[in-house]
Amino acid sequence: MAKIIDGKAIAAQIKDECREKVRERGLKRTLAVVLVGDDPASAVYVANKKKACDYVGIRSVSHELPGDTTEDVLFDLVEELNDDDTVDGILVQLPVPSQINEDRLIRAIRPDKDVDGFHPDSVGKLCIGQPGYLSCTPAGIIQLLKRSGVEIDGKECVIIGRSNIVGKPMAMLMLRENATVTVCHSHTKDLRSVCKRADILIVAIGRPKMIDASYVKDGAVVIDVGIHRQADGKLCGDVDFESVEPIASMITPVPGGVGPMTIAMLMKNVVEGEDGSDIPWIIL
Ligand code: GUN
Repeated sequence: MAKIIDGKAIAAQIKDECREKVRERGLKRTLAVVLVGDDPASAVYVANKKKACDYVGIRSVSHELPGDTTEDVLFDLVEELNDDDTVDGILVQLPVPSQINEDRLIRAIRPDKDVDGFHPDSVGKLCIGQPGYLSCTPAGIIQLLKRSGVEIDGKECVIIGRSNIVGKPMAMLMLRENATVTVCHSHTKDLRSVCKRADILIVAIGRPKMIDASYVKDGAVVIDVGIHRQADGKLCGDVDFESVEPIASMITPVPGGVGPMTIAMLMKNVVEGEDGSDIPWIIL
């Protein structure tokens, strides 16, 4: 029987720490939130981010643009927010409509306001071990592990998925914590036997319930980044929870595992700023 890692509780703890810091230090922070188009899932994410800002004591300013917004209009807005001294962080919810080049958009956000940690400057700093904004989901996973008492140093960590938002920054963060890291992807040969090596298995493949017990070593810690809506309306992850839970030592549920951490870490990025890793109040 695995211990269930309660992401909702840990996220609440982090948001409370952010709120306390804002209150104690009288911080005035503003997050600009940009949503292009009317994707319902994005609208929910953005609403939850604004709600978290209200809770923590961060001012959020919304910019909702129609789905046919041109690159020029969006980039002009980003430029305006870059130059606005009252704005501390800029978040453009992804994905954006296809007429907008996502890569150029990410680069257009000034690195010192890049609270998503997606800009090449932020990613580069992470790679060479300098303080900078960290991508929220992988940084949240580090918090889940540390606050659940999981030792990372020297452990075999296998990550399935090599996206810019999760897999690659996750690998860098685990490396920074002195894990031995393997990153798997669609061309990996014998995925099952590679995963079986893992003391810590982080799954971000985007395929419902793909990872069952045959991929997992007895006693492994299993982190599930996936989230999918099933035919019966229930949510599930990339991990087959019922199959894996009996043999793992710890596991994140879906929902209530990794998901809530992304917003909590966004709050932390906005409150702490780019050099947050120098501030000792939070364990990095
Ligand atoms: N879309 C899905 N996750 C994220 C995220 O963390 N940040 C942004 N900006 N868009 C997303």
